[in-house]
Amino acid sequence: MSKITPQPGIMEIALYEGGKAKIEGREDVLKLSSNENPLGAPPSAQSALAEAARNLHRYPSTDHAELRQAIGEVHGLDPARIICGVGSDEVLQFICQAFSGPGDEIIHTEHGFSMYPVLIHMAGATPVCVPEAERVVDVDAILAAVTDKTRIVLLTNPGNPTATILPEGALERLADGLPAHVLLVIDGAYTEYAAGYDGGTALADARPNVIMTRTFSKVYGLGGLRIGWGYGPKELIDVMTRIRQPFNLSVVQLAAAEAAVRDRAWVETCAALNERQRARLVGAIRQLGVACDDSHTNFVLARFADEAEAAAADAVLQADGIIVRRVKGYGFPEALRITVGDDDQTGRVIAALTKWREGA
Ligand SMILES: Cc1ncc(COP(=O)(O)O)c(C=O)c1O
Repeated sequence: MSKITPQPGIMEIALYEGGKAKIEGREDVLKLSSNENPLGAPPSAQSALAEAARNLHRYPSTDHAELRQAIGEVHGLDPARIICGVGSDEVLQFICQAFSGPGDEIIHTEHGFSMYPVLIHMAGATPVCVPEAERVVDVDAILAAVTDKTRIVLLTNPGNPTATILPEGALERLADGLPAHVLLVIDGAYTEYAAGYDGGTALADARPNVIMTRTFSKVYGLGGLRIGWGYGPKELIDVMTRIRQPFNLSVVQLAAAEAAVRDRAWVETCAALNERQRARLVGAIRQLGVACDDSHTNFVLARFADEAEAAAADAVLQADGIIVRRVKGYGFPEALRITVGDDDQTGRVIAALTKWREGA
């Protein structure tokens, strides 16, 4: 028996379960379980990556200056207030680690991103889970949960797996209501799919206690490469930079991300495809008598009558080679989260769900 003991909080961490990727004995698997881009990575980023791969013997830049400059130009932001990480997961980790520790509380919401409790425990802090109202973040419930020990509020907007959105006015009311010692983090992994939503930019620009995070894993199609970023008050970004490893992003990550963020045509094409197929999928699901909120993301949450019905529909989808996400761990045993695919893929999903309904 080892006498080496882990730090407090670490044994509370449940291992993260990623979206399933394989079905035994099938080659034609359609993976719609991790909200990946059906069009893949932009050719511009693939070329930049190949070019950068000629320099694999060189260490990457430590300050990510060129990538931050590109993000700043595209989004109209001050590059000095941007920090880049190995996925937005790492940026969220910097936030929890830099601004909380043992004895501190971090608020997250009932159906928020499942990595939050992991990151909170990694920092040694205590997660405080606040209910949502009909699958939408509840500003009053969050404000009521704030104590002297609260350091951070972690918010997914638009939500995963709910796909709902808290309008900017409500976000502003939340920011107004939080005490100055509490940091509001707006995780905007799906911002590009929410037409007209600024992802928390205006708040992160103006407030001393708001940070927003973004990812290259969704609309930019670079989930396999692992790049994300955060934007907030310079003094907070400077604190986070102290715990960022100097070479956290590789030469190929930096080159691909810079090309991708400048490729606005790609983002528009992917967002437009998503909007069309999402409307089609939501309409078809509702037509089959399955509840489904309007989605502001690249996935939909199909809510069946109960867990057994969701399991039966999942079995029919899998029999047709389609993998979607069971979301019991997110508090939705009766639901399936389905990533929006391209035209053919959406057709396959609708056909399988129709088959399930007809056989049900
Ligand atoms: C809400 C939310 N936040 C953050 C992430 C992490 O994204 P990444 O680390 O790939 O940037 C995800 C990934 O699925 C997500 O759904």
